Amino acid sequence: MIRFFGGKGGVGKTTLAAAFAVARAGAGRRTLLVSTDPAHSLGDALGGELGEEPRAVAPLLWAAEISGEAQARRRIAEITTDAEQALPREVLPAVRRHLARATESPGTVESALLDRLTELVEQVGDRWDDLVVDSAPTGHMLRLLSLPALLAPWIEGLARQRTKARDADRMVAGLLGRAEEQPDPLLERLHARRARLEAVRSRLAAEALVHLVLVPEHLPLTETLRAAETVAETGLRLGQVIVNRVVPETETGVLARRRAQQDEVLARLAVRFDEPDLVRVPLLPGTLTGRQGLGELAEVLREAGFDP
Ligand SMILES: Nc1ncnc2c1ncn2[C@@H]1O[C@H](COP(=O)(O)OP(=O)(O)O)[C@@H](O)[C@H]1O
Ligand SMILES: [Mg+2]
Repeated sequence: MIRFFGGKGGVGKTTLAAAFAVARAGAGRRTLLVSTDPAHSLGDALGGELGEEPRAVAPLLWAAEISGEAQARRRIAEITTDAEQALPREVLPAVRRHLARATESPGTVESALLDRLTELVEQVGDRWDDLVVDSAPTGHMLRLLSLPALLAPWIEGLARQRTKARDADRMVAGLLGRAEEQPDPLLERLHARRARLEAVRSRLAAEALVHLVLVPEHLPLTETLRAAETVAETGLRLGQVIVNRVVPETETGVLARRRAQQDEVLARLAVRFDEPDLVRVPLLPGTLTGRQGLGELAEVLREAGFDP
């Protein structure tokens, strides 16, 4: 199974995603837990350093904090090599400068992050049974998930231009009497990339669930309702929505007043989502880190009716 946990910063995505992953691993599934949030805190939640490559953190549980930067640098290096072979020497310095700048652009980093995530999604069913993604805050996550759809036509356009340019080259070469077949690594890469993005998009649409996480306050509610629409438009399926840090009804004093405010938001959520699609996780005392803390939270999640 593939699950994304998304929502505003600070609502509990990392903690809940980690607790869920701990539960899956505990149930005997080879589970990969990945953070794509540039503000990585998965390592802190698990109590250990994490990096780009999955690292074993518990029996059957691996974790990684991935970013687009390393992947973007690798990809730009590949394209630079292609360009060096394909282009006249005079233009190379300008092309190199352009590619170096592209490495730093947010678009490049974001699509590189998607490539990395694509690789990991492709490994589900093979290297991993389950993939749990602790995503960047909502806007970023949804952009990431809709990138395959956005990139496909763009890549198609680029590929068409390349084909045209190649046909013209061939014609000239034919006229000059040297019409041998030249492989076009750039065109091949573009086609391969498009095919992979499309495969991952249809796979995510079929297999992945997006869990929106929020705390019961007005602003997060508005954002969650909007995100739920966007998830649907992206062609992804919405999983159960998790309302985190709900004050228990038994509380008195300040917390009771807080609970009264939360009740308004909970009522509005109940209008939009049917009961089984809405999971309430109580405000908990204590630290929710490390395998023990996360294991306890996993139990609370289960009792709250998550992933029945
Ligand atoms: N149900 C809860 N009760 C109490 N504290 C919580 C609860 N859920 C999360 N927290 C705490 O809230 C803080 C933010 O959680 P985190 O998972 O890092 O949020 P996010 O990843 O959405 O930014 C952490 O210190 C976490 O331990
Ligand atoms: Mg986080």
